[in-house]
Amino acid sequence: MAFSERVSRLKSSLIREILAAAQRPEVMSFAGGLPAEAMLPKLDWDEMPLNIGQYGMSEGEPQLRELLAAEARALGVPCEASQVLVVSGSQQTLDLATKLYIDKGTKILLEGPTYLAALQIFQLFGAECLTVPLEADGPNLAALRASLEQHRPSFIYLIPTFQNPSAVRYSEARRDAVAALLDEFGVTLIEDEPYRELSFDGGSARPLVSRLQSASWIYTGTVSKTLLPGLRVGYLIASPDLFPHLLKLKQSADLHTNRIGQWQAMQWIGSEKYQQHLVQLRSFYRIRRDAFQAALERYFSDLADWQVPQGGLFFWLTLKQPLDTRTLLAQALEQDVAFMPGEPFFCEPDLHHGHLRLNFSHIDPARLDEGLMRLAAVVRLAQRAQAA
Ligand SMILES: Cc1ncc(COP(=O)(O)O)c(C=O)c1O
Repeated sequence: MAFSERVSRLKSSLIREILAAAQRPEVMSFAGGLPAEAMLPKLDWDEMPLNIGQYGMSEGEPQLRELLAAEARALGVPCEASQVLVVSGSQQTLDLATKLYIDKGTKILLEGPTYLAALQIFQLFGAECLTVPLEADGPNLAALRASLEQHRPSFIYLIPTFQNPSAVRYSEARRDAVAALLDEFGVTLIEDEPYRELSFDGGSARPLVSRLQSASWIYTGTVSKTLLPGLRVGYLIASPDLFPHLLKLKQSADLHTNRIGQWQAMQWIGSEKYQQHLVQLRSFYRIRRDAFQAALERYFSDLADWQVPQGGLFFWLTLKQPLDTRTLLAQALEQDVAFMPGEPFFCEPDLHHGHLRLNFSHIDPARLDEGLMRLAAVVRLAQRAQAA
């Protein structure tokens, strides 16, 4: 069949396949990045004006853009509402940025590991993905400088606050240093922050884009992790040189983001009710994080190393005795346990064996121990087989 050339690079998303397998109610899933069911807020539809069903503006609802710009300014991001584009989830930001920058062979720079679905869209368009290794407080600076100098990538894609999958939060010093390097080499920054609000230690750090002097930038956020992912409402804020191009790409993608979702998001963003919801969310997830940590210590302390995440939705485990964790999936699912293998989060999966991403927000606490116990048994069995 005469499909486009890029379709040959279309990989199915492993996470979607695992999530499909994890649909069975008996499966204990650590796989997705789903919010806890109990914390999805109730929506009020009564006040919604009927004309919200009419076509809207490609930029997004004007009032929502104002609210989002005000929130971003409070974080230190210098912007006006005219730089805000409401998108269908921050995933769409990645899609639009891909279309703006990537042709076959375009060099881009990513964290290793990075967000799986970003890698998927970048690779679909034929990007040559280069990696900068991630350390406990941000990217390795020497590697970053070397890559910028040698490859002059078209952009760098970073998730500096509670990264998916590693949960890393860049330190203040690393944020400053990365921003300075991007200015020095004039490389565009795409900063993705879906987990910023899910902070368990109260710590916060200004976005990288607010530290740039001259480089172009796109900052993106979403209501998926704090309100409802099913609304499909996210946003991007771009430096003025990029905005008009992104707007045209948005128009040609889907005319505008669904207005019903935008209206619902507008009822929350910037409100007291939203602040209260975030406080509850953080405390709910902190408790789940702590319970998960305790259970991990029981079942994984001899098998893996990990940092306790200070925010976000994931634990990132590094096996003491590495093996290709993709090979564990079938056995785990047989035991009614789903998890996310670490390899697909890297541009070169085969060079990075031995990580597991475990989501702690969604699992029913009553089944947490059983799930981790079974997963540890699967790992142990595979390691014994490997050693034999
Ligand atoms: C780093 C990162 N970026 C983007 C997204 C997509 O979020 P949205 O639901 O807003 O499309 C996710 C979702 O898990 C994510 O982890």
